[in-house]
Amino acid sequence: MNKSKLGLPIGTTLDRFIRRKEEEFSFATGELSQLLRDIALAGKIINKEVNKSGLLDITGGFGGKNVQGEDQQKLDVVADIRFTRALKNGGMTCAIVSEENREIIHLNPNCRYVVAIDPLDGSSNIDVNVSIGTIFSIYKRISPVGSPVQEEDVLQKGTEQVVAGYILYGSSTMLVYTTGRGVHGFTLEYSLGEFVLSNDNITYPEDGTIYSINEGNFYTFDSWVRAYIEECRRKQMSARYIGSLVADFHRNMMKGGIYLYPNTVKYPEGKLRLLYECNALAFIAEQSGGVATNGNQRIMDILPEALHQRTPLYLGSPKMVKKAVSLIPADTLIK
Ligand code: AHG
Ligand code: MN
Ligand code: MN
Repeated sequence: MNKSKLGLPIGTTLDRFIRRKEEEFSFATGELSQLLRDIALAGKIINKEVNKSGLLDITGGFGGKNVQGEDQQKLDVVADIRFTRALKNGGMTCAIVSEENREIIHLNPNCRYVVAIDPLDGSSNIDVNVSIGTIFSIYKRISPVGSPVQEEDVLQKGTEQVVAGYILYGSSTMLVYTTGRGVHGFTLEYSLGEFVLSNDNITYPEDGTIYSINEGNFYTFDSWVRAYIEECRRKQMSARYIGSLVADFHRNMMKGGIYLYPNTVKYPEGKLRLLYECNALAFIAEQSGGVATNGNQRIMDILPEALHQRTPLYLGSPKMVKKAVSLIPADTLIK
C-alpha cells in the first residue's frame, strides 16, 4: 500500500483523516472536525455548480455589486449562500465574515468558531472555464460562548487561526488545509464523491523560477516592484498569472515561485483582503515552508481594523520573497 509520510495511506478519505487527526486540534471536542467536514460538503456542492455552470444559466453577472463595489457574479452569490447555509446547519459556527457581505453574519451564539470566507475566488474566471477557488479561515471566538459575537472575535490576527484552507476547482478539485501541523491536500474522487488524501505534508520549495503578478499594472507599481520584475525578466523566469489567487497560490506552492499583489494606483492598499484571502494562504504558506509579508510585516501579525481590509501581498518561496522585499527602500512604509 502506498503509505503517506503521515503513516495514513494515500487515498484515505478526508472524513477518516480528520477523525484520525482529531487530537491535532487544540480544542479536540469534535466540533472543529465537524466544521471542516461542513466546509468540505459545501465545497462538493459548489464543485457541482461550477462544473455545470456552462449548462445552466448561472454564469454571468448577477446585476448586483458586493461591498467593495465589484460586480457580483451569479456563482459568487450561489457559493455564498451554500457556505452560509452549510455553516448554519452544521451548528458549529457563531459568525461568518464573507467577501459577499458588508456586515458580520451572526449565527448561533452558543457556538465557539468564527469563519472568514471568500466563497468564490477568481470571479473574472468563472465564465471562461478557468480555475477558481474557495478560501477559508477558522478562529476560536474571544468573547464568552453564549454572548453576542463582538468585533474582537472576527478582527483577530492571522496567528490566531486554528484551521485554514482552500478548495481549488481546477483540472481536478482539491481541498488543502492546515491546523498548524503541516499542510495536507485531498483530491475529489468523483465516482466516490469523496475527498481523498493525495498530497500529505506539502513542502513549499525554498526557491523557484515562477513569478506571478498582474504585469498590466506595471507602470502603477512602486519602483522597487518594477525593479524586481525586471530582474525576473533578466533571469528569464517564467511569468505565470491566472488571476485566481487560489490557483496561482497552489501552483507556486507545488512548483516554487512568488506571488505579488502590490499596492497600485487603483488599489493604494493592495487589492487582496486580509481576513478571507491573505491570512489563510499565509498560514498554509508558512506551514509548508513559505513566507507571506506585506513588505514590512508578516501577514499573520497584522491586527485587522476592518472586516474587508486590504493589504499588499508578497507570498511564496522564502528565497524569492526575501530577494523581492530586500529591494524596498528603507524609508518606504507600507500600510
Ligand atoms: P475575488 O474573485 O474573490 O474578488 O478575488 C479576485 C482576486 C484574486 O483572486 C486574484 O488573484 C486577483 O483578484 C486578480 O486581480 P487582478 O485582476 O487585478 O489581477
Ligand atoms: Mn478572492
Ligand atoms: Mn470572491
